[in-house]
Amino acid sequence: MANVAVIGTQWGDEGKGKVVDWLASRADIVVRFQGGHNAGHTLVVDGVTYKLSLLPSGVVRGKLGLIGNGVVLDPDALFAEIATLREQGLEVGPHNLRIAETTPLILPLHPALDRAREAARGQDKIGTTGRGIGPAYEDKVGRRAIRLCDLAEPETLSFKLDELLLHHNSLLKGLGAPLFEKQPLLDRLLALAPRLLPFAAPVWEILAEARSAGRRVLFEGAQAVMLDVDHGTYPYVTSSNTVAGNAAAGTGIGPGAIGLVLGIAKAYTTRVGSGPFPTELTDATGQLLGERGREFGTVTGRRRRCGWFDAALVRQAVTIGGVDGLVLTKLDVLDGLPELKICIGYRLGGQFLHRLPPAMRAQAACEPVYETLPGWSSSTRGARSYAELPAEAVKYIRRIEELVGAPVMMLSTSPDRDDTIALRDPFAG
Ligand code: IMP
Repeated sequence: MANVAVIGTQWGDEGKGKVVDWLASRADIVVRFQGGHNAGHTLVVDGVTYKLSLLPSGVVRGKLGLIGNGVVLDPDALFAEIATLREQGLEVGPHNLRIAETTPLILPLHPALDRAREAARGQDKIGTTGRGIGPAYEDKVGRRAIRLCDLAEPETLSFKLDELLLHHNSLLKGLGAPLFEKQPLLDRLLALAPRLLPFAAPVWEILAEARSAGRRVLFEGAQAVMLDVDHGTYPYVTSSNTVAGNAAAGTGIGPGAIGLVLGIAKAYTTRVGSGPFPTELTDATGQLLGERGREFGTVTGRRRRCGWFDAALVRQAVTIGGVDGLVLTKLDVLDGLPELKICIGYRLGGQFLHRLPPAMRAQAACEPVYETLPGWSSSTRGARSYAELPAEAVKYIRRIEELVGAPVMMLSTSPDRDDTIALRDPFAG
């Protein structure tokens, strides 16, 4: 049985929640492999809206949810999300959620450092979610992180906190921010241990067994390729690898087990936070896309910047991310626009570039080169087959496929899960 991985191909917020939910209903297990509670996935199930940041979307569908070692886990955020779901009538516990024993924890000092650093950057800030994601990944790579399994060893906690505080308090002091004391942190971790440890499990082994038993696994990516720490618009990126390849390292499976990779792309482009955005529209059309597309962040509530579809960018993401097929979302937001533009490359210093250059100033200076297509006047909202789409909308989709170099395998035409045009079952292999 094939597995499926879902990743974003732009700067996040492509509508992964709905697609992941659609796929989760066909999967046995749903796994998060990177990011943390900086992600925001909105699911609408039977008229009830669920907003998830950290939990794998499958838990809403009664599937086993796994959090892989590639995630950074804030225990407070986890328990807050579990409590919200409980209020909505959904029980999440070790029976339906397992967390890799080696998952690094986000402690209160991580968001404190994240925010202090952003404040110090002033105008040059990254625009992070302020949730401590970057500092937590730094500690993991710096070999200082406190991991879930450490909660079972009080001496290890004490030893690691010394090292962690030496590092963090030096930085916080330099930034003029309040410092942290060891004992309250240690007490907090010791109190968390009996609540959190029951979730701990060898996720890699659960996945190996699932694979042998032919169970369907969905790898749920967060953020998107252009926010990837290696391949995105660095430094305006998140701190994890968001490409599909990280589903292997971030959970403990071989690369061959990932299966089909679906890349989610909005029919236009949005971005939150700072950083280059060649096709950004600061005019009335940009405003219209934002209003129609309800472009406000699930996590931060921040307004998203909006612009035309950037085929050069998505083609780059498809290649780097190992995307087999696209899922195009929010096509209906473009309904009624007289003409549409697609970016096919960039102009920089009199030269045509077919890809975004790597350096930050060059990225910021890239001017988009557009192709113009006719718009359509009738509505695409809620369409459930290609036959229901206006000819110009089909033309727009076909042109995207050509420019991006990947087939559109699914099309989402409204927030409703059933308003989806799927050309084949992704799990069919
Ligand atoms: P961080 O992940 O909080 O460090 O933020 C780094 C960058 O990634 C910022 O520009 C954020 O706005 C962006 N970002 C992080 N998570 C998401 C997401 O789920 N959707 C869109 N942008 C995100």
